[in-house]
Amino acid sequence: MSAICAAPTCGKETASALKCPVCLKSGSSHVFCDQSCFRGAWTSHKSIHKKEDGSDEVYDPFPNFEYCGELRPHYPLTPRRAVPKHIKRPEYADNGRPISEIKNDRIGKITILTPKEIEKVRKVGAMSREILDATARHIRPGITTDELDAILHKECTKRNAYPSPLNYYNFPKSMCTSVNEIICHGIPDQYVLKDGDIINLDVTIFYLGLHSDLNETYYVGDKAKADKDTVNLIETTRECLELAIAMVKPGVAFRDYGNIIEEHATKNNCSVVRTYCGHGINQLFHCQPNIPHYARNKAVGIAKPGMVFTIEPMLCVGTYKDTTWPDRWTSSTQDGKYSAQFEQMLLVTEDGVEVLTARKSDSPGGPIPRIQ
Ligand code: MF3
Ligand code: CO
Ligand code: CO
Repeated sequence: MSAICAAPTCGKETASALKCPVCLKSGSSHVFCDQSCFRGAWTSHKSIHKKEDGSDEVYDPFPNFEYCGELRPHYPLTPRRAVPKHIKRPEYADNGRPISEIKNDRIGKITILTPKEIEKVRKVGAMSREILDATARHIRPGITTDELDAILHKECTKRNAYPSPLNYYNFPKSMCTSVNEIICHGIPDQYVLKDGDIINLDVTIFYLGLHSDLNETYYVGDKAKADKDTVNLIETTRECLELAIAMVKPGVAFRDYGNIIEEHATKNNCSVVRTYCGHGINQLFHCQPNIPHYARNKAVGIAKPGMVFTIEPMLCVGTYKDTTWPDRWTSSTQDGKYSAQFEQMLLVTEDGVEVLTARKSDSPGGPIPRIQ
């Protein structure tokens, strides 16, 4: 009988019977191709022992909280991942406070990138896409969101990039993983993905002094791809972002994107989240302009060549209303129904837009047909 290699960065079928000593003792079924898979996976693999030998249970840190849906946090979180010393860190990396961002908010001017910075941001955008894709290739039933975070972290550091979420306002992990009813800002933990789940990976990197931010929502296993409402939600969200991007050019007002997004969402029986918006991004993770995704918003300003910002609509099957878990990050729908999101980082050009984080022909995920 063959099994899947338990190294999250491998995931290939193997006939090997190589087990780690703890799994061998507990009778657990995890096997590794070879010593190299075993050694590479050890740090993240050992965290599952706690679940299986019962000595250090996975637990809900907020047992009295009234959750809106079925998902729960699965603690303990793994320790903070280290970033090698030679990698340039954003200013909040040590104390959690993005001071320049806070100061800049009081001025609110929109940055125009210089030609040199534009050259750089193209590189950073392409790299962030590579990193998201490399991580998303490991999505499958059975992997934990923390294992995905470990993979993402490694993909960043091996390219000398800092994972921007890490310690941004004390966010504990290197990316956001938002499962099912989670709208955004989910924290990677010991939750094991199952067939029928959906997951958004939101990746931001800091490289060459600039941030690049993108996210996609993926189907986990075949059950998710076979559920009519789930497919409609994800595909409608994907299309909303595409429609908004198609409008971007100099002179278009930031308030206009929300109209086309909400129109397409409503036509497809989805609602649009109002609490979280697209944003300017450059040397700062979040700055002006603010770009709401809902209709008839009052966002100020118009696009000009050299501006860089994200559009990142979040749509829901049921209510658009959100609530935040006691971890002060995880944002859930109030009715526990699924939510999806897509995000791209955009450069306004002289006559249109350049998608700095565009998909490549071999990117994992991508659209599937709706179910009748
Ligand atoms: N990447 C998110 C965005 O699209 C922000 C995440 S903030 C974090 O704007 F701290 F949660 F990482
Ligand atoms: Co993002
Ligand atoms: Co963003």
